[in-house]
Amino acid sequence: MKHIVLIGMMGCGKSTIGNLLSKKLGRPLLDTDRQIEKEQGCTVAQIFSQEGEARFRALELELCQRLGQRKGLIVACGGGLPMQPECMQALKQNGTVVWLRRDPGETYDGLDTSGRPLAQQGREDFLARFAQREPVYRRWADAVITDFSSPKRTAEKVLEVLK
Ligand code: S3P
Repeated sequence: MKHIVLIGMMGCGKSTIGNLLSKKLGRPLLDTDRQIEKEQGCTVAQIFSQEGEARFRALELELCQRLGQRKGLIVACGGGLPMQPECMQALKQNGTVVWLRRDPGETYDGLDTSGRPLAQQGREDFLARFAQREPVYRRWADAVITDFSSPKRTAEKVLEVLK
């Protein structure tokens, strides 16, 4: 059974939807940020501030390479993870990639920016980051979800496209 790999901007609902899918399908959820925090014994924000973004990206890649050898998980990816092609190549070996394409303005307006080092520069910066990432998310996506009327509904849409 392939992984279900959720990608998209910070705050678009990857962890929430991942959690619903995990319950519904009885498959484990692996959130890449939480897994890195568990393994490193510190928060993502601490890794960014103490060791720099490059170190965090290296940890993401190393984790993805391990995940490529496994299967059957729901993988909720950090928002910037798909920017490293090697990460996505590893996850795609054994995974179906679903892009949660929520409107970036709406996403930012509901975003909890605490603990998110790359969401500290305001709305315009967030929208610009989305514009820069959008073609990359699109490139990797096997399916794109645009219904964010409720988490339950979004999770149902994911299940529909995976059928
Ligand atoms: C990042 C998103 C975060 C986390 C890190 C960097 C990004 O994950 O991986 O702060 O580059 O967009 P979420 O998408 O879960 O917030």
